[in-house]
Amino acid sequence: MTQSLTLPRPDDWHLHLRDGAMLAGIAPESARHFARAIIMPNLVPPVVTGAQAAAYRDRILAVTGTGFTPLMTLYLTEATDPADVVAAHKAGIITAVKLYPAGATTNSASGVRDFDRVRAVLEAMAEAGIPLCTHGEVTDHAVDIFDREAVFIDRVLDPIRRKTPGLRVVMEHITTSEAVAYVQSQPADLGATITTHHLVINRNHILVGGIKPHYYCLPVAKREAHRLALVQAATSGDARFFLGTDSAPHADDAKESACGCAGCFTATNTMSILAQIFEEAGALDKLEGFASRNGPGFYRLPVNSATITLEKTPEPVTYPAKIETGAGQVTVFDPGFPLYWQVRQEATS
Ligand code: NCD
Ligand code: ZN
Repeated sequence: MTQSLTLPRPDDWHLHLRDGAMLAGIAPESARHFARAIIMPNLVPPVVTGAQAAAYRDRILAVTGTGFTPLMTLYLTEATDPADVVAAHKAGIITAVKLYPAGATTNSASGVRDFDRVRAVLEAMAEAGIPLCTHGEVTDHAVDIFDREAVFIDRVLDPIRRKTPGLRVVMEHITTSEAVAYVQSQPADLGATITTHHLVINRNHILVGGIKPHYYCLPVAKREAHRLALVQAATSGDARFFLGTDSAPHADDAKESACGCAGCFTATNTMSILAQIFEEAGALDKLEGFASRNGPGFYRLPVNSATITLEKTPEPVTYPAKIETGAGQVTVFDPGFPLYWQVRQEATS
């Protein structure tokens, strides 16, 4: 008998879809399995106004069709107008606002340098119940790249949350046991997303036996003890942890370069990888919470009524190693082990 697992259709609470030919090439990889996704606004130039978010949403829908719902975000800058944010949220154009410390990651030059300059926006968001999504790394050159997340919690995140009661915050793509512990110590107005790849790789995967540019992402993968803390959090059933793949495509020539871009592209095989990780942790029954229920719970949205079914296969699942796009070829994340869970192909409802 085939072992199978049926879940409400999952959502991706942190996704990069890019624009133009790259968008056209990679968006179907997410729309095939996911019903909704929080869409990152780090285009060039970034999505900073409600009008830009609405236009970007329409460009996404033109590619995916209406079976996929992009949940738009605004890129927070020191010039963001609180009234525009609140109006865009009220009009149903945006779901959240994204905070990038300036210079922290790909296309983050317009991010925030002085956090006091965004106080009025944060207060308006707390008042209106608009979640803040955070890229949680400091950019201080004196702080080691492997410590930047833990330092961000102490220097930036905790002070912001103390000064802005009622602000709902998502710590995105957490990579450390410190972040897990911080989320666990706080009330439910703080949630965290965990990526597929951070459940699979540690820093050895990037650096041992030759540098592996397709495993380089930000925040950078940490020691094995941190990966284990992430697996523990994701498979624990704690509703504050949910899936945000951070699937972030770059053309291969931009990754395989003397200065390679950060980002892992996991949209194609995420559900197969997650099923395997959860099964190995003896927690297949917790996948539904992590991928399909906890995110809508935090964002106060309904759980999807459509479903997907994963089936255990006797032979390893096959999936493309590369996705061809009009903006170049994109390498699909290689977990480094064969996958035995396949999403059943069926017409989406
Ligand atoms: C993301 C990208 O490529 O836009 N890269 C990454 O390594 N995750 C940016 C981000 O989310 O930090
Ligand atoms: Zn990201």
